[in-house]
Amino acid sequence: MENIRHVINITDLSVDEINELIEMAKDIIAHPEEYRELCRYKKLATLFFEPSTRTRLSFEAAMLELGGSVLGFSSADSSSAAKGESVSDTIQTVGCYADIIAMRHPKEGAPIAAKQRSTIPIINAGDGGHFHPTQTLTDLLTISREKGRLSDMTIGFCGDLQFGRTVHSLIDAMLRYDNIKFVLISPEELKVPEYVRDHLIEKGVEWKEVYTMEEVMPELDILYMTRVQRERFFNEEDYVRLKDTYILDMEKLKTAKEDLSILHPLPRVNEISVAVDSDPRACYFRQVLNGKYIRMALILRLLGIR
Ligand code: CP
Repeated sequence: MENIRHVINITDLSVDEINELIEMAKDIIAHPEEYRELCRYKKLATLFFEPSTRTRLSFEAAMLELGGSVLGFSSADSSSAAKGESVSDTIQTVGCYADIIAMRHPKEGAPIAAKQRSTIPIINAGDGGHFHPTQTLTDLLTISREKGRLSDMTIGFCGDLQFGRTVHSLIDAMLRYDNIKFVLISPEELKVPEYVRDHLIEKGVEWKEVYTMEEVMPELDILYMTRVQRERFFNEEDYVRLKDTYILDMEKLKTAKEDLSILHPLPRVNEISVAVDSDPRACYFRQVLNGKYIRMALILRLLGIR
């Protein structure tokens, strides 16, 4: 089990490996026919103990487009977890049926427990408020395609930076590229956790925390919007008070750069006005499509096919 490759956090991949995955995803986009049969007779298990639309379906679409098959479940209720089975036993069982696992779980660290007993590669498809490395790969591919680079830019993260696992993973990833400035836009209660702040300080990068998006809009090359994560709040009152703190609309974009790229991992609730969707700077549905291509590249890589 020692030499099986798992991806639990984005830092499980070196910068060179990330860059190779991005290049492979671009090659898949350019030459899809060359990839259609590469996973023939291979099976992907999607084990989703927590709801998902994009991550689960893009993993499944990725495997199907590579000529492989998919099996799995989309909620804990429809698996033997509902009868009390441990994650470790579930993983050992699925290892008898599949070649690779994409797993989402509401508990932080669950994929770390899972990988200890796994005989096949595990990809973390999101664990609680912790990490979401394949969303980060999706975000990096999107930034690379939109901007033509992954260095020399100012990126603003806006919204729920406390519970937004996509934010934590993307900050960790962008810290490894040159000359990135970070602007963290959130209310006091939803600031990034202490460990994320420590990473920013350790790396010695330029970063700041602000409350309004208006005060920093002209500086930004990327605006990464997030929803307030209702499912991670301890009480509904706090959620209701904070949920509409930020709503990006055309008025707020008036001072933005013409080549700003607006990203959002989705799902969106209310934080981006639908009117923004038709602005060319809105990248979030292109980002969704990129998620399929980068997951195709990752599956190929972890199965040792490319
Ligand atoms: N971005 C993302 O993780 O979306 P889903 O929750 O729909 O998978």
